[in-house]
Amino acid sequence: MPSPWWRSAVIYQVYIRSFADGNGDGLGDIAGLRARLDHLGELGVDALWINPWYPSPMADAGYDVADYRDVEPRYGTLAEAEALIAEAHQRDLRVLLDIVPNHTSSEHPWFRAAVAGGPGAAARERYLFRPGRGAGGEQPPNDWHSVFGGPAWTRVTEPDGHPGQWYLHLFDPGQPDVNWEHPEVRADFVRTLEFWFDRGVDGFRIDVAHSLIKEAGLPNLGELRFARPRIEVDGELVRAPWTAHPHWDRDEVHEVYREWRAIADAYDPPRVFVAEAWVDEPERLSRYVRGDELHTAFNFDYLTAPWQAAALRKTIDETLAEHAAVGAPPTWVLSNHDVARHVSRYARADQSVRRTYLRQLSEVPADEELGRRRGRAAVLLTLALPGGAYVYQGEELGLPEVEDLPDEVLADPTWVRSGYTDRGRDGCRVPIPWSGDRPPYGFGAQQTWLPQPAGWGPLTVAAQTGDPDSMLEHYRAALRLRRDTPQLGDGELRWRPECGPDVLSFDRGPGFGCLVNFGPDPTALPDGVRIVLASDPLDEDGRVPADVAVWFAG
Ligand code: NOJ
Repeated sequence: MPSPWWRSAVIYQVYIRSFADGNGDGLGDIAGLRARLDHLGELGVDALWINPWYPSPMADAGYDVADYRDVEPRYGTLAEAEALIAEAHQRDLRVLLDIVPNHTSSEHPWFRAAVAGGPGAAARERYLFRPGRGAGGEQPPNDWHSVFGGPAWTRVTEPDGHPGQWYLHLFDPGQPDVNWEHPEVRADFVRTLEFWFDRGVDGFRIDVAHSLIKEAGLPNLGELRFARPRIEVDGELVRAPWTAHPHWDRDEVHEVYREWRAIADAYDPPRVFVAEAWVDEPERLSRYVRGDELHTAFNFDYLTAPWQAAALRKTIDETLAEHAAVGAPPTWVLSNHDVARHVSRYARADQSVRRTYLRQLSEVPADEELGRRRGRAAVLLTLALPGGAYVYQGEELGLPEVEDLPDEVLADPTWVRSGYTDRGRDGCRVPIPWSGDRPPYGFGAQQTWLPQPAGWGPLTVAAQTGDPDSMLEHYRAALRLRRDTPQLGDGELRWRPECGPDVLSFDRGPGFGCLVNFGPDPTALPDGVRIVLASDPLDEDGRVPADVAVWFAG
């Protein structure tokens, strides 16, 4: 029996507000995406995952959903969504949506009813409302903090006009956490899954899949308030072993996904899930992809690893072992809409530590050419590893993180919630340049929702198309080869003897291998092999220079 598509799929992430603008309002939309579907066909990916497109006040760029079973008017209509799904399918592209089960928008009818109902109202049971601490209830119920900064609690004004209960929001105040112990909450999310599955959607990415269940009594975090402590093992600083946390990665969450899996399996063809679960280690991640749970999960341990042979080897080995133990295919991810773009992360010469976010990059000098070389090598490594892979829109163009967006355009709630100290994630969300030599580079209206830098002319799709040295043609070539190479995708990996402190080299089944040189000195390819694709030219002696990856046959 052939392996199911999702075990090997390359999935393209469409960050819809920044992909393409069809109606000229400066915000990407479904019309823009439909008009640009050819780009995805030509790139050679298997599926697209579209970030939330539901009605939303946009407190967190659409991750605050006011109605899960409709489309945000600024993005289009339900009819357009259906047309897009059909057109993608005609091109053999599957479509994944993004479901946000941890929280709704504060504009969701459930939350409005909860606030309007006052303390004791049944509608409050769907969320996590609690009285405050202190004589007048003026302190938050516990010490939990929001991912975006500040306390995870906001106090409401009760219908009688007085300050009253507090509600939990692990993210923005506009994103109240729902109560997963409530049967109506569970039933309603099932209805949402079925609503979109019935419209032909092939699967869902599950937002913060590890956060749904909270420990009864909502105990204080105490020591867990801070990142997991580091301990020394064999002279190396590593994270302390996993310990139960009151709101991340609780074991009870898996019950939800067993129910969802049964629903997805009842469809023909079966629908699929990918978990967004920022958990501490590959073993914890593998629990989400057990046979009766989710199909796949984003591999953030790989995404956050520095560009270094030892660090990547460790995460690859652990990922493969933990996924094999549960029979699930790994995924490999370099970038997404929440982290600094990888060419900019890799542009920092010092790769001795993990630097994932813009705030961790700003003090460190960047070498753009180095980032570009490593980005070209990284995609060959990523696409050669066993399992599936993700491509975040714009990485195929080599777009860098925009590190100097002016304060006044920043839209990520992190900026405000951190007291204007963390510039957040807008730098990786800048609208895509399609053509032309100045903003908006064919994106749509002159005024894009985030400004595009001057100087992106050479990075447009139009400018790179047909240029064999461009990042875009490199991605196209790699994806084409991946499709034509049966050894790639799902399967086994065998490390080769050339591996060393600066080199990773492995075989993917008979006759196909990959070598990446992370060190400063050129390294030899195995004897007698034929180069299939190289991320940059080899040296005059046929050796692989620093920061170059090669796919080889033989
Ligand atoms: C993860 C999403 O990727 C991120 O963009 C969002 O802010 C949080 N979840 C909250 O929904």
